[in-house]
Amino acid sequence: VPVKVGVLVGSLSKESINRRLAKALKTLAPDNIELIDIDIADLPLYNRDADADYPQVARDFKAQLNDVDALLYVTPEYNRSIPSVLKNAIDWASRPWGQNSLGKPSATIGASMGPLSTAVAQQHLKQILVFSDAPLMGQPEGYIHFTPDLISDDGTVNNPETREFLANWINAYAEFVHKQRG
Ligand code: FNR
Repeated sequence: VPVKVGVLVGSLSKESINRRLAKALKTLAPDNIELIDIDIADLPLYNRDADADYPQVARDFKAQLNDVDALLYVTPEYNRSIPSVLKNAIDWASRPWGQNSLGKPSATIGASMGPLSTAVAQQHLKQILVFSDAPLMGQPEGYIHFTPDLISDDGTVNNPETREFLANWINAYAEFVHKQRG
């Protein structure tokens, strides 16, 4: 039985390059993990007044998180940090107090056209995830410098070196997850 991995994409854009990256990772993943998309688009803005009685959409989100064994964050960089949609999802996931859903083996990866890719955003994200009790994969890092046709809409990686890099990366992640689970 493959280990279930929840995938959180930090972009709501229909043309998201990070969504394409997530699809590529799915096609390249080994058989011992199953990548499952967890949608964050319909979550309202987090407000601690909701802690006493989460809205259904947030309950569904928490249930999906609680159902997976590990988490994978595929995120853009916005203003040298993570997009607010992803931070919002993380805030929902971390609550109600005492019911944090984020403490699972995790890794971050992300794509950008910029020369630093998503390095700074991923540093911020890792800080948040350490606080959230998530064991994190340190190596290999995944800073994908995107060029217009690097990955197609369906997740096909058009550059052989990038395909090999991503295949190695997702294999290393699968190994990390299995090691963490003992
Ligand atoms: C960006 N972009 C960006 N890129 C980057 O490398 N570092 C950054 O700090 C930022 N900041 C930023 C802020 C905002 C508000 C936007 C809209 C964009 C560019 C970003 O990498 C690009 O739009 C990607 O295509 C976003 O990823 P998705 O949505 O295509 O997955």
